[in-house]
Amino acid sequence: EIVFVHGRRVWDSRGRPTVEAEVMLAGGGVGRAIAPAGASTGSGEALDLRDGGTSFGGYDVTRAVANVNDAITEAVIGLDGTDQAAVDAALIALDGTPAKTRLGANAILAVSMAAAHAAAAHAGIPLYRHLGGHDATLLPLPQIQIFGGGAHAGRRVDIQDFLIVCPAAASFAQALDWTAEVYRAAGKLMQEAGTLQGVADEGGWWPAFTTNEQALEMLVRAIERAGLIPGQQVAIALDIAASEFGKGGRYRLGLEGRELDSAGMIGMLTGWIDRYPIVSIEDPLAEDDAEGFAAFTRAVGDRVQVVGDDFLVSEAARVREAAAQGAANAVLLKPNQRGTLTETLAAWNAAKEVGYGGIVSARSGETEDVTIVHLAIGWGVGQLKVGSFARSERMAKWNEALRIEEALGPEGRFAGGSMLGRSRR
Ligand code: PGA
Ligand code: ZN
Repeated sequence: EIVFVHGRRVWDSRGRPTVEAEVMLAGGGVGRAIAPAGASTGSGEALDLRDGGTSFGGYDVTRAVANVNDAITEAVIGLDGTDQAAVDAALIALDGTPAKTRLGANAILAVSMAAAHAAAAHAGIPLYRHLGGHDATLLPLPQIQIFGGGAHAGRRVDIQDFLIVCPAAASFAQALDWTAEVYRAAGKLMQEAGTLQGVADEGGWWPAFTTNEQALEMLVRAIERAGLIPGQQVAIALDIAASEFGKGGRYRLGLEGRELDSAGMIGMLTGWIDRYPIVSIEDPLAEDDAEGFAAFTRAVGDRVQVVGDDFLVSEAARVREAAAQGAANAVLLKPNQRGTLTETLAAWNAAKEVGYGGIVSARSGETEDVTIVHLAIGWGVGQLKVGSFARSERMAKWNEALRIEEALGPEGRFAGGSMLGRSRR
């Protein structure tokens, strides 16, 4: 039974306010969680409630925090805190709007996640085990950003994330070892080129390039410089985040000063897939371009994972609809796009039903909160995307997964590339 709830304002990795919640159960068990925040948000996301006005650029969260301390507290006190579905159902009913515009998805998610932590603490077990029982043994393939662009780097380049995956690593720990070498090598190459200019929002190197493709070339060179084999040991993943520069079937590549239609985008990306060891592409087309998504998936879905982020916004209904259209073959899972763990899990269950892969993902605005690592392992999703290999709001997640891998010992299995989405043919 939930006996205590408290919300407070804390600060995220961009120095912006965010919502933290604590939940306490009768008989012991305290949970705490912090809501993250995106920058390249999909229009179908639940609302990240901000005060507006002048305080902290309008990003203050005093209303969301008050919602935790007033309406939400009143609604969940007395509920069985170990029944996540019941807690989340109460939160959803209390808000009563499709996009959680009354209370804010940031307020709701902080409480939803804190309740999960409290239930795990009450049972005296780690959260991943509370969520997945003894089947929770799958360590995710990490997708780790090396160059950060798009909305996370002042739109210095159009493409948002240039990432690597290490499907041939023997363990999660080894995947991080390889990534550390590639990240370091990429920094050295940028330094040698005279283009080292610090890092973007998620810790990836600042993308000082003259074309988008140059980043791909540099990434392959970094993998080689690290002594690893591109395509065999280390492969490339991209988050195009095309909704940021595309609308109504027109895509404006600001860096290169050209505009493409849907077919042009598909042609450009297919060319990259032919020339570079790319295994996964997220949001290759804009959120309003389901036809483009389907055409892209038909063209390359048997070769690469096609991930919907802004396109699917972690929503079960959209996953089913996309599957019916043959658009995408994997879903990005960001709990704050929906606002409760139950709804996020429903999207993953829908993905499994239709044969899609999944990737649990952080946001560009993050904190020390490591809940998503437990979700990835507890739900057996098999892939985890957290940003780069620098800045402690990112490293906290990677380090938590290392601890879990160690705790699982021989029971743990590294997913490698086994959970990468592929369209069924
Ligand atoms: P966001 O970026 O958190 O700014 O939306 C992450 C992503 O697009 O995957
Ligand atoms: Zn994305």
